[in-house]
Amino acid sequence: MTASSFQPPVRTLMGPGPADVHPRVLAALGRPTIGHLDPAFTAMMDELKELLRAAFRTNNALTMPVSAPGSAGMETCFVNLVEPGDKVVVCINGVFGGRMRENVLRAGGEAVVIEDDWGRAVDPNKLDETLTAHPDARIVAFVQAETSTGAGSDTRTLVEIAHRHDCLTIVDAVTALGGSALEVDDWGIDAVYAGSQKCLSCTPGLAPVSFNERALEKVKARRMPVQSWFLDLNLVLGYWGGGQKRTYHHTAPVNALYALHESLLMLSEEGIEQAWARHRRNHLALRAGLEALDLELPVPEAERLPQLNAVSIPAGIDDATVRARLLNELNLEIGAGLGAFAGKVWRIGLMGWSSRPENILLCVGGLGMVLNDMGHRADTGAALDRVRAALAA
Ligand SMILES: Cc1ncc(COP(=O)(O)O)c(C=O)c1O
Repeated sequence: MTASSFQPPVRTLMGPGPADVHPRVLAALGRPTIGHLDPAFTAMMDELKELLRAAFRTNNALTMPVSAPGSAGMETCFVNLVEPGDKVVVCINGVFGGRMRENVLRAGGEAVVIEDDWGRAVDPNKLDETLTAHPDARIVAFVQAETSTGAGSDTRTLVEIAHRHDCLTIVDAVTALGGSALEVDDWGIDAVYAGSQKCLSCTPGLAPVSFNERALEKVKARRMPVQSWFLDLNLVLGYWGGGQKRTYHHTAPVNALYALHESLLMLSEEGIEQAWARHRRNHLALRAGLEALDLELPVPEAERLPQLNAVSIPAGIDDATVRARLLNELNLEIGAGLGAFAGKVWRIGLMGWSSRPENILLCVGGLGMVLNDMGHRADTGAALDRVRAALAA
């Protein structure tokens, strides 16, 4: 075998995640590895938890990163909160709601599914009606920011309805955290999980989670032990819980946690509300450029996520050719459609460090260039002017 050091190409990441990772975060990864029970490391863990609480806008004591990707954050919520026989209402408006249902079933729960169209927010009225029809439901689960479609749901309202029907809530905030408003305490979210690689702009592989007291009570009152040893919060907390008596649970991904610490520090330096505003401003600039290229955004305006933009592929344009040309000629990655949107949309991410004016100009300019070559005539110069005007507004 002739192997050599892997040198990845330098790309601009404007797909559904991972997002571009800031050089400060990459530099943090390369710092010396120390023991995961070293006092210097555990002091960093405490700071990291504080930074995470600020990002989630919560005072929840149980706020920590699970040592695995967003899917493990999802699984942490379901395996700890769902017991065999529990009825869980799952709102599905894209790929990730479907995975929540799968998690409920594997935890032995009964899933009552509410479906909404792809590209639309979860409908609060349907949730209210479903909970009225199922007074024995214990939990409501939904995705705040559906990465597969670019639709954002009204978490505050959905949680309020769930609580009125005496249900706990599990919210997927993988793509939401850091990119659009998320108020864990104010909105009363009971359990929430996220991912490191989206609007936090950290490397992939960590899943911040936060549980409030109500959710923890349900975990503590379980009749049966959590089926997953690794994700059982009662055990994980022996390590992440803090205090002097930290015990070995698993070897924490030490350097990855330096990176998460650095990315959360950058978020707190910017200010979380300023980060939400930046994502919104840049989304509006991208939208202006895409519309000037005669491209349509299928998600209704009020339900659009700023950090993930679905764009309809014009008739007669080959999806894969466009993405391949952007990648090969401009080192620019945009995302393909998933599930019901496969072949129908591109997904353009403006997440975290990727949400920058120069990326928008590159993407609109690149799409204009390639689409014109393929016969979709549009004035790329005018589109770039629209982007610049929107950024200056
Ligand atoms: C909304 C949502 N939930 C869950 C996940 C799963 O996260 P991961 O791929 O890090 O396991 C993703 C990843 O794209 C996501 O977008």
